[in-house]
Amino acid sequence: MAVSIRDLAAWKASGTRFVMLTAYDYPTALLLAEAEVPVLLVGDSLADNVLGYPNTIPVTMTEMLHHARAVARGASGQLLVGDLPFGSYQRSCADAVENAVEFLKAGMHAVKLEGAGWVVETVARLTQRGIPVMGHLGLTPQSVNAFGGLKVQARSAADRERLIADAHALEDAGAFALVVEGIPRDLAAQVTSELVIPTIGIGAGPDCDAQVLVIHDLLGITGHLRGTVPKFVKPYADLGDRIVSAARAYADDVREGRFPDDAHSFH
Ligand code: KIV
Repeated sequence: MAVSIRDLAAWKASGTRFVMLTAYDYPTALLLAEAEVPVLLVGDSLADNVLGYPNTIPVTMTEMLHHARAVARGASGQLLVGDLPFGSYQRSCADAVENAVEFLKAGMHAVKLEGAGWVVETVARLTQRGIPVMGHLGLTPQSVNAFGGLKVQARSAADRERLIADAHALEDAGAFALVVEGIPRDLAAQVTSELVIPTIGIGAGPDCDAQVLVIHDLLGITGHLRGTVPKFVKPYADLGDRIVSAARAYADDVREGRFPDDAHSFH
């Protein structure tokens, strides 16, 4: 059965918690379909997790679309969300509409964009045109330069009030869900209880309606490569270690003449 934004609204109304995971390629989409993950985000975290950029700023629409198409080919029934990358909606609402249309043509069902303020009008323009929008507040990685690093946001009373007002503004503009990233647990709980739309937390505590993680963090690839993971990440596998061990074992077998053997040969 295909998951739609209506399902997310129903899950919020009935108190049914759900998950979203990032996916950047065809096999991951197939595997996450098998695992019955209902929402896949082709995140702009493609930049640092797959393409080797230092942060999410450099990734382009062309790169995002390439991966979005691959995920769409592997998915079966999940709600697919394309993350509008930095530069694809900042210049004008017209740009936002054009790039969101490209995502939907690539097989996505919705788009995500970061921030509020001037972004609220963009969200309204997109939703008025039949393009479902997921908002994203708090530690919004595309603002890394404005924040002076990636730090927990909304710690002061004024910032907390602003985030709550921004969340309501995005909901009023038509957003169907809201990612809240890197904010204090009690603030995420308050936003979750005040909004009608579901909140999807990452580094925002357990009281959100849903949770999202970057798939490379969950699989233990990031932890292996960087030697550390952020406090909010829980790796559920050690794929980084396993990939290195497997590649080493293969190389040893070839060097020692154990592979290929007769069983792996044609006669
Ligand atoms: O790009 C991404 O992975 C994200 C999630 C962390 C929400 O935006």
